[in-house]
Amino acid sequence: MRLEELKRILADASQVFVLTDENVAMYWLPELKHWLDCERAVEIVVKAGERNKTLDTARLVWDALLKHGADRHAVLVNLGGGMITDLGGFVASCYQRGIRFVNVPTTLLAMVDAAIGGKTGVDFEGCKNQIGVFAEPVEVMISPVYLSTLPERDLYSGLAEMVKYGFIDDSDMLQVNECNYEQYLLRAGEIKKDLVERDFKEEGPRKVLNFGHTLGHALESYTMNAADPLTHGESVAMGMWCALWLSVKQCGLDETVLDDYGPTLRMLLSLATTEFDAEDVDGVLAYLAHDKKNLAGQTLFVLLEDIADPVWDQEVPESLVRQSLEALFAFLNQ
Ligand SMILES: NC(=O)c1ccc[n+]([C@@H]2O[C@H](COP(=O)([O-])OP(=O)(O)OC[C@H]3O[C@@H](n4cnc5c(N)ncnc54)[C@H](O)[C@@H]3O)[C@@H](O)[C@H]2O)c1
Repeated sequence: MRLEELKRILADASQVFVLTDENVAMYWLPELKHWLDCERAVEIVVKAGERNKTLDTARLVWDALLKHGADRHAVLVNLGGGMITDLGGFVASCYQRGIRFVNVPTTLLAMVDAAIGGKTGVDFEGCKNQIGVFAEPVEVMISPVYLSTLPERDLYSGLAEMVKYGFIDDSDMLQVNECNYEQYLLRAGEIKKDLVERDFKEEGPRKVLNFGHTLGHALESYTMNAADPLTHGESVAMGMWCALWLSVKQCGLDETVLDDYGPTLRMLLSLATTEFDAEDVDGVLAYLAHDKKNLAGQTLFVLLEDIADPVWDQEVPESLVRQSLEALFAFLNQ
């Protein structure tokens, strides 16, 4: 959809709301309203960070929509990172049984992953994405201009999801780093869109996008209330190391793939300060029980037989999962 067409949709809407977080509001809210010719839009600004991707925040947004008389012809523009696009997509798709929404991703991670594909939701009882729906935005407007204000640590977080595409689909993307990522932006979006088109409801091939996320989500939830929580990408980067370790043990993946990933993992974690040791293993494993990808009590993983050759719904014994975490923490403490 061209910008002009989007402007027309917004002009024809009964009302336009822009949902964003306090950091993004500071840098980009006036600019966005100007670019979209929607100075009249109502601003809804929520607290930033994963800890606020909750039903309580969703309720605040629903309250604001109701207070301003939003009807079913209103449009919600989600301006922010994955926290905002997940939350806003969920809020919009439930409000009056669904109003239209537009995603304007402002983090690298949201541009290459979270804003695309229609998965929306909030965390619940400390567990990731437990409440949510599949709902597609009417448009995703991607522009690298927003990255000029993105903190470096959040840039690395997005790089982790790009590396994921390298493992599951296109080995060229394993070369991505903080200097060259712009050249891979388009390709990353294509890989995600292709998988979503083939399997919107994640019943088969789309599951490969969860590579690194089974333990990644457990690590993210485990550190959510720590003094310095892991970012989503850092958690996934660690989860991918474990998934590669398990792939070597269970799927015959060449061990050199795991060895080669070591320096990349250290780069992706270079700004994280949380330290782990063997005593953290039980705490992380406790969160696996809540993971949506578990079926009948079994923890299911996406693993690799080779680079760009993923297999999904892989059952892994808990003892092996435990060993992979112990091996990860030992590697990080070397
Ligand atoms: N729906 C999906 O398919 C999908 C896929 C991957 C990740 N996710 C979700 O995405 C979330 C992570 O997304 P994220 O990494 O974008 O986190 P985020 O939205 O929390 O943003 C990270 C930080 O960057 C700040 N920020 C955002 N844009 C900025 C900008 N341009 N300039 C300055 N600061 C900016 C935010 O205020 C926040 O503090 C997680 O909740 C994860 O579960 C969803």
